[in-house]
Amino acid sequence: MKIEKRIALVTGGSRGIGRAIAVRLSGTGAYVFIGYIDNRKAASETLRIIRNKGGNGEICRFDVSNFEATQEAIKNIVEKKGRIDILVNNAAVSISSIILRAKENDWDTTININLKGTFNCCKSVSKYMVKQRWGRIVNISSVVAEGGNAGQVCYSASKAGVLGVTKSLAKELGARNICVNAVAPGFIETDMTASLPGKSKEKIIDSIPLSRIGTPYDIAGVVAFLVSRDADYITGQIINVCGGLYI
Ligand SMILES: NC(=O)c1ccc[n+]([C@@H]2O[C@H](COP(=O)([O-])OP(=O)(O)OC[C@H]3O[C@@H](n4cnc5c(N)ncnc54)[C@H](OP(=O)(O)O)[C@@H]3O)[C@@H](O)[C@H]2O)c1
Repeated sequence: MKIEKRIALVTGGSRGIGRAIAVRLSGTGAYVFIGYIDNRKAASETLRIIRNKGGNGEICRFDVSNFEATQEAIKNIVEKKGRIDILVNNAAVSISSIILRAKENDWDTTININLKGTFNCCKSVSKYMVKQRWGRIVNISSVVAEGGNAGQVCYSASKAGVLGVTKSLAKELGARNICVNAVAPGFIETDMTASLPGKSKEKIIDSIPLSRIGTPYDIAGVVAFLVSRDADYITGQIINVCGGLYI
């Protein structure tokens, strides 16, 4: 699964699933840009882990929901390293609330970061990847995109939008040897899910055929596969990594 000296950007690489992806990609030889927004210390910790394992990369602060800032950040990466090979759109927020309580701002924030953020990053890397005639994009969605979830109208809508982006881009960019796929995690132990009370977690575990909550590494391995040579003939697909939670 060697990725050789590919240049990768993992948005939201400071914590949780994004950190595991960044570390995993680095382990396969990629130079990894670790995207973050607020948590410089956590992003630096991801970089420290990568360097301790013999890899390299750098931290990279920009707001994925801001089009100009995203374009600028990706332009800087290409100016520094000459190319951008791998984009993992992982940065996201999850604001849980039933529709009767949801605020207009919950919708706007979620769509702006999760969906527009994915568009902003895909659009910004596309022009370079098209010129290179090689690129791998992995969009992190969620099983709730297809399965829905009470209390997650905004979040599941944003993640369903990400699937639409994935499938359309796969069709647009395939001829240039750019593969675009989505990974849809189930319930994964990170900051995003940490606030759930123990009882709710037990209930969720009961509904998972593999009887356990996932780890960020469960997701990272699949992302590493999708950007590897072994996945050269896979595009436009959604890979559910959820222990069977959504079948
Ligand atoms: N955890 C789960 O159970 C689960 C399930 C299904 C799907 N997912 C998806 O998996 C991905 C990672 O989830 P996670 O649980 O690891 O999330 P997390 O621990 O909450 O981390 C979110 C990451 O996104 C970054 N971020 C947030 N807003 C940003 C913005 N405007 N611009 C740039 N970066 C921003 C954060 O940066 P800072 O550290 O700087 O704040 C952080 O690195 C997300 O797409 C999520 O929707 C997660």
